[in-house]
Amino acid sequence: MSNSTITPWVVGNWKMNPMHANAFQLIQEFKQLLEHENIAPEQCHIGVAPTTIALTSIQAQLKDAARTVYTVAQDLSRVAGTGAYTGEVSAELLKDSGIEFALVGHSERRELFGDHVEILKEKLHHALNAGLTVIYCVGESLDQREQGLADQVVLQQICDIAAVVQAEQWQNIVIAYEPIWAIGTGKTASPEDAQAMHAKIREGLTQITSYGANMAILYGGSVKAENAVELAACPDINGALVGGASLNAQSFYQIAKAFAQSK
Ligand code: PGA
Repeated sequence: MSNSTITPWVVGNWKMNPMHANAFQLIQEFKQLLEHENIAPEQCHIGVAPTTIALTSIQAQLKDAARTVYTVAQDLSRVAGTGAYTGEVSAELLKDSGIEFALVGHSERRELFGDHVEILKEKLHHALNAGLTVIYCVGESLDQREQGLADQVVLQQICDIAAVVQAEQWQNIVIAYEPIWAIGTGKTASPEDAQAMHAKIREGLTQITSYGANMAILYGGSVKAENAVELAACPDINGALVGGASLNAQSFYQIAKAFAQSK
């Protein structure tokens, strides 16, 4: 059950990129593209997720953009508040720096940095309680897909968080479906496969929360300017989480435009 009134989201996940000077240039170029031909905020939410060290400087640079562009944290601590936790940045510290959005559960965090389900629940819980909007990432591996387990794995990842989300907080969650085999590989899920999974996620969400029909479900995994239009045309794909292509201002702009024009 799709809802065409959902405003799409296009979020650039910069991962551990780029160096400061290139980040500065990337934002300048993106701002120029918006100045030349703006994308109306009501047609598409746009955000970028720089490295933690660049969050506040990128946010400052975006202040005079032609439209609101959100600054999104790629991760946050499993511990709330402040205290003796070397190397950590809590939800409250992000909020205190004016950062209102965070990714939780990206597959690179799950696979490479030990973010197992209990840790993700803590991160999500603290982020929501601090008033952040969370982009919660889910997705199956190639192995799981080949074994016919994709739906089960992804729906389980959604169910995993249900216990720590209060009824009203579902409004502050955006889901990003990112099949792991499509991330950074140049392989995109076909629009049909992606739409089928998004429809299942939507169905699952509507069983958990009354906000399910209105929640944005983004697709991620090798989204480029070249495939954005057909992905954006799918009724249950409400935006994109973009890795590699978000490091090029023109590509990122074209992807945002594709989603803005699709609904
Ligand atoms: P990609 O990354 O677009 O480079 O595949 C997407 C992501 O990991 O969010």
